[in-house]
Amino acid sequence: MKERFSIVIAGGGSTYTPEIILMLLDNLDKLPLRAIKLYDNDEERQNKVAKACEILVKEKDSSIDFIATTDPETAYTDVDFCLAHIRVGQLPMRELDEKIPLKYGVVGQETCGPGGIAYGMRSIAGVLENIEYMEKYSPNCWMLNYSNPAAIVAEACRRIKPNARVINICDMPIGMEHNTAEILGFKSRKEMDIRYFGLNHFGWWTSIKDKEGNEHIHRLIGHQLKYGNCAVNDDPSKYSDNSWQETARKVKDLVQIDPTMTPSSYLQYYLYPDDMVAHSDPNYTRANQVIDGREKRVFTECKRIEEKGTAKDTSLEIGIHAEFIVDLATALAYNTHERMLLIVENNGAIENFPADAMVEIPCIVGKDGYEALSIGKIPTFQKGLMEQQVAVEKLVVDAWQEGSYNKLWQALTLSKIVPSANVAKKILDDFIEVNKGYWPELK
Ligand code: NAD
Ligand code: G6P
Ligand code: MN
Repeated sequence: MKERFSIVIAGGGSTYTPEIILMLLDNLDKLPLRAIKLYDNDEERQNKVAKACEILVKEKDSSIDFIATTDPETAYTDVDFCLAHIRVGQLPMRELDEKIPLKYGVVGQETCGPGGIAYGMRSIAGVLENIEYMEKYSPNCWMLNYSNPAAIVAEACRRIKPNARVINICDMPIGMEHNTAEILGFKSRKEMDIRYFGLNHFGWWTSIKDKEGNEHIHRLIGHQLKYGNCAVNDDPSKYSDNSWQETARKVKDLVQIDPTMTPSSYLQYYLYPDDMVAHSDPNYTRANQVIDGREKRVFTECKRIEEKGTAKDTSLEIGIHAEFIVDLATALAYNTHERMLLIVENNGAIENFPADAMVEIPCIVGKDGYEALSIGKIPTFQKGLMEQQVAVEKLVVDAWQEGSYNKLWQALTLSKIVPSANVAKKILDDFIEVNKGYWPELK
């Protein structure tokens, strides 16, 4: 067993990098580190955070090596874990993913519907490239991949890199469970044993038990039918911005459709796309909010730290949403057998669902990877929605592998959010124009 681990963060220039580093530094007793490296293919962008990250690391523990590099060999040599959060095309392409569908009155969202499909077509090659570096330079390394759109990326990994040491994961369920713990009066989400099934950004909680085995889901659903995921006296300042508060509120509408389980808030885009479009500004989308908000805030603070030469008084905060990263790495390193929600091949876990679908379900994580828990049969409503969505995700990867225009048109047409093949084609043709150089050429 290694005593101290070496980590590379792929997509080092991400706005999430500093808060993830703070989270790692806060957990050195659980997961001791000897090196933290940043890797990005955009040096200028990575440099906006790298110096501040180095200061954070050195002020906490000067014995931890720190490197920021754009050289894959330097980045991936001698590493135990790769935390991958790349965004191929960066935020300006996210803006187009969101704005093009909205032009045609269709939901514009980075992972759901047409926006997610366009982003998937860009992301696959970037993630595969990083897996290849990892396999070449550190074959025993584990990649914890949360690069979006996670469902499509996971399907591409399943097909193209079936034996790679990659675990696909999302922070959304953790965020929702924090919230649930608060609503139900638990001190932490770790006091709850949950059951959940679905796809990434497309799932349902079916049970929330305390450690004595008492069921609390009905109490949660009762609350959600009145308030959604908001607290009774909700404090708007707990949300990074008001679109997340609206999302929490919208759970009230989602849970009406099937009040036997608790939905992921991302289902709002599939089940109430009309409301989502009505509340969108086609000229100022979530990408603009992130560019003017999180990106500006993080880069400005990193610059301040760099100029001052110290982070002692920093406003940067530990990314609570990043705690799953430490839990997952710890489970792999120390064989903790912690139960976590991962995106894995179904293989019979959901009994009445295709074996080769990538599903999001609870898994036990240990040093050899994960073992999925058995879910049993799922109801017709959820099954129907999931089958349609899995087909979309598979068609995107088909289109990427085959360079097929028709497969991508089919994917867009099948997406529950898109009203017709006509609209799908218009969106597709616009996407092709702006994604030149990112997408494979489609014939
Ligand atoms: P960002 O644009 O701020 O940063 C991403 C970085 O990735 C950029 O610096 C970019 O240059 C770099 N990059 C792009 N292609 C690369 C490649 N091939 N190799 C190495 N680096 C590359 O993005 P962000 O808003 O911080 O988000 C980062 C990613 O994490 C996105 O995919 C986002 O959707 C995802 N994310 C996922 C979850 C989850 O729960 N699954 C949570 C948060 C963020
Ligand atoms: C949640 C999701 C992520 C997504 C993020 C977007 O955390 O799980 O998959 O990347 O939200 O947040 P943003 O603030 O960039 O819109
Ligand atoms: Mn996610």
